[in-house]
Amino acid sequence: MYCIKKVTDDLVWVGANDRRLALFEGVYSVPAGVSYNSYLLTDEKTVLFDTVDKAVRQRFLENIEKALKGRKLDYLVVQHVEPDHSAVIPELIRQHPEIKIVCSARVLEFIKQFYDFDLDSRVHLVEENDTLNTGKHTLHFVMAPMVHWPEVMMTYDSTAKILFSADAFGCFGALNGALFADEVDFAKDYMDETRRYYSNIVGKYGTQVESALDKASALNIEMICPLHGFVWRTNLSEIVSKYMLWSKYEPEERGVMIAYASVYGNTENAAEILACRLRDKGIKTVIFDVSVTPASEIVSAAFKWSHLVFASTTYNAGIFVTMEALINDLAAHNIQNRRVAIIENGSWAPTSGGLIREILGKCEKINILENNVSILSGLKAAQLSDIESMAQAIGADFAAPAGVAQNNQAAPNAVDPNVMFKLSYGLFVLTARDGNKDNGCIINTVMQITVTPVKITIGVNKANYTHDMIIKTGKFNVSVLSEKAPFRVFQQFGFHSGKDTDKFAGSGEALRTENGIRYLSEWTNGVISAEVKEAVDCGTHTLFIAEVKQAFSLSRDASVTYQYYFDNIKPKPQPPKGNKKGFVCKICGYVHEGDTLPDDFICPLCKHGAADFEKI
Ligand code: FEO
Repeated sequence: MYCIKKVTDDLVWVGANDRRLALFEGVYSVPAGVSYNSYLLTDEKTVLFDTVDKAVRQRFLENIEKALKGRKLDYLVVQHVEPDHSAVIPELIRQHPEIKIVCSARVLEFIKQFYDFDLDSRVHLVEENDTLNTGKHTLHFVMAPMVHWPEVMMTYDSTAKILFSADAFGCFGALNGALFADEVDFAKDYMDETRRYYSNIVGKYGTQVESALDKASALNIEMICPLHGFVWRTNLSEIVSKYMLWSKYEPEERGVMIAYASVYGNTENAAEILACRLRDKGIKTVIFDVSVTPASEIVSAAFKWSHLVFASTTYNAGIFVTMEALINDLAAHNIQNRRVAIIENGSWAPTSGGLIREILGKCEKINILENNVSILSGLKAAQLSDIESMAQAIGADFAAPAGVAQNNQAAPNAVDPNVMFKLSYGLFVLTARDGNKDNGCIINTVMQITVTPVKITIGVNKANYTHDMIIKTGKFNVSVLSEKAPFRVFQQFGFHSGKDTDKFAGSGEALRTENGIRYLSEWTNGVISAEVKEAVDCGTHTLFIAEVKQAFSLSRDASVTYQYYFDNIKPKPQPPKGNKKGFVCKICGYVHEGDTLPDDFICPLCKHGAADFEKI
């Protein structure tokens, strides 16, 4: 019986799941199975995107017949010829001899290598940026070589704004009734398997993945349909941001992955003691026994963590077999940009450490701690200091800001609040609307964080009425102030509370964006409307992560920076009259007269704390 899922009104998932597969590609365990995705577009022409593995051919063929509803199949777009997606092509053609196969020249070459059937008479060759109109939809073809094979092509449906991404953004694990990533707790239940899929299947080809991401960033994508795993229709940045890290070999988490190979438990003992010393310093650790945990899981963890420790006994004058396989696997998957430490063991001639160093030393940007800890059979009390020294050397990286650690410089351990003023903030009027009430305030933290979709973050003081409105409505506008903004704008929106004043009084025509919220057309150069997707409690402030729904320019004037505001807009503070002593607010210029300023003093004008005052 068929089993299909609706993706959109005219797109159907016709793939199938395999939970009996022991090893994907004959190498990677898939205890939760795997899905082979295929999609049927029913436009004026019918278009199938890829086929499936031969293990699920019967269900797939039933699915297509159901989804076609008696129509003929006009096109088969072949994006990737690896047999988990192409095995059913010959049988499909026998059932639908009318099919035109849409593919690149490289795909054509690969199909001919794998299969024998009359291909040339039914092929429709496409190149980069070629298009195919199927009625309402226009398909654009985007080459993505080495993601995961050299012939790989992606397809962008510019009508539905869907990217058919081939292997990219795929995941191990069968689809258990859900098709969309937002139907499951993806971060908790599937991100590890997505990383394992990425690191082991395309991890070697980070540069090529980056190229594909660059091409994708130029497209307006609202949905991603990969060949394995879930369809993404919301929060695409959750998966895209991970790919951006992985493709650059940037770690996701600062912490230490320890992998050990131990025959009689002594190397394991050293690994455990090191983990304890690292935890004592507050550093996250994970430990794997390479003889127990499949290599693909450890490769995946190596892509996640910033620091890697390999502890191996010596075996046949070399590295222990399972550790040797892991180290070669990591090198083959192009692991790079990691800090590494090595513990070796050997009863008469420990050599494993040097050999591991030799293999990993050839990888790019692998920084290996100078000294191995070398054990003769079992760790002795006198060597605990060696383990502690290794923990301290690793710990030094965590004490210092990233980057400083690489140079082994001591981390400054004090926080000078004045350094915060050196950050290149802008200044913005943040506006919101609750019922009939409009309000706004000045903020200095607006930052774009993703491109597809466009998302920004804003940081807002909880004392602001605008903050409460955004919490309630989930919507806001940002008007980007220009260098032409006079001080009175900052006074108007920054030095009063909207709870007792109408901040828009006398502001002229009430201009609003599509979300109904006011914006400033004067003294600004651009306006952004956004909807909150996430709110992070940061103590005094809330960090809102929001998707941009509307954005337009108003002028070519330069945006005002925090520095420009202080140097050119904010009036210089005047000393108190007579010989009175006092403190001046560096933000708004308010002067508090007196010999002392209480630590909990709050500026009555701009609500900044005592740290923002300086003695006159
Ligand atoms: Fe899912 Fe590269 O095949």
